[in-house]
Amino acid sequence: MPNRINIALVGLGFGAEFIPIYQRHPQATMYAICQRNFEKLNQIGDAFGVAVRHTDYDELLKDPNIDAVHINSPIPNHAEQSLKALRAGKHVACTVPMATTVEECTELVKACRESGKKYMMMETVVYSREFLFVKELYEKGELGKVQFLKASHQQDMDGWPGYWPGLPPMHYATHCVGPVLGLPRADAEVVSCFGSGTIREEMIPIYGSPFAVETAHIKLRGTDLSARIIRSLFDVARQYRESIDVYGSKKAFEWPLVEGEDAVLHTAKRAEHEIPERVKVPDYAHLLPEGIRPFTTKGVYDMAENEHLSFTQGGGHGGSHPHLVHEFLMALAEDREPWPNAKQSANWTCVGILAHESALAGGELKRLPDWSFTA
Ligand SMILES: NC(=O)c1ccc[n+]([C@@H]2O[C@H](COP(=O)([O-])OP(=O)(O)OC[C@H]3O[C@@H](n4cnc5c(N)ncnc54)[C@H](O)[C@@H]3O)[C@@H](O)[C@H]2O)c1
Repeated sequence: MPNRINIALVGLGFGAEFIPIYQRHPQATMYAICQRNFEKLNQIGDAFGVAVRHTDYDELLKDPNIDAVHINSPIPNHAEQSLKALRAGKHVACTVPMATTVEECTELVKACRESGKKYMMMETVVYSREFLFVKELYEKGELGKVQFLKASHQQDMDGWPGYWPGLPPMHYATHCVGPVLGLPRADAEVVSCFGSGTIREEMIPIYGSPFAVETAHIKLRGTDLSARIIRSLFDVARQYRESIDVYGSKKAFEWPLVEGEDAVLHTAKRAEHEIPERVKVPDYAHLLPEGIRPFTTKGVYDMAENEHLSFTQGGGHGGSHPHLVHEFLMALAEDREPWPNAKQSANWTCVGILAHESALAGGELKRLPDWSFTA
């Protein structure tokens, strides 16, 4: 293994949760942090003992000691900051989505090829314990032949600041696109989407998007599969839920309907009442280096020494954070592509962008770009 990788963490809202994980990973040095507000930067730097601090992202990129940046800034900054980092010779991990336009996604795929640096979109659902559970069933062949996948991400984001009010639901779709494409490891080829319902009048003009719900069908390239995804953000009564349901010929997996419930596994060819059973999903901590295993359990972000820091998100996103960190670092250490890599991240992100275009065009089929030129 090469030396430890010097990480710079950019954006310290949700992003701050990753600091203690990098600090405990045997392959990383949590080297620098960056965010615009100087006071909060110092508060977090002092609490976690990170010495190198920046309020200016461009200045941070000039530091030759930084091997990789992990970007957790607001959505409109993702593409620009990722491109700048790749062109400055840094590897990039970036929270979702990769970008806000198809053109930006193409630029990022090209920048990866030109720089030889690695890019990973830090999609939490594909490293959640439920996803890891169904992935294990899939890889062991226990599902039989997979016939269909569906996923949802419903969240009430009323009152969120900045760019959130009125956001088209499919512009933040990777939490449901990622799992349905990620399980069979297939790219999306074509997408078609309908809008449904109407959000409050004052939010509609912000993005010119009226829809309360957007539902899309995706055709998976090189397979006989299609998948359905559902998104809502405003004016729909639904507890926060991300989910993937997978229907196989032998077994089917359904994500818990309500937070705190167990998932359901259906087994074919049994007496009707014996088909469904509740299953306890394990935490998959054993896949991780010992030091970061505790982070798969909810709530450990507020660890004793950092109690005075209040994190906006918490919750742990299905225990995914340490798995994401581990995958990114090991891809760099082993000089292999991370999962999802730049092309996969671009494909997942563009499904959402094109789905919304499709909804505005009454469900018109939209073909995903082909980035094979960069192979
Ligand atoms: N499950 C998930 O994957 C998940 C969950 C929550 C948030 N997110 C993503 O994380 C990102 C941040 O969300 P949040 O809720 O923490 O937002 P936030 O507004 O609380 O925090 C944003 C952070 O970025 C910093 N920042 C803003 N502009 C910057 C710039 N130009 N240079 C450097 N730093 C800058 C801010 O100072 C702040 O620390 C969003 O893109 C969001 O989509 C993903």
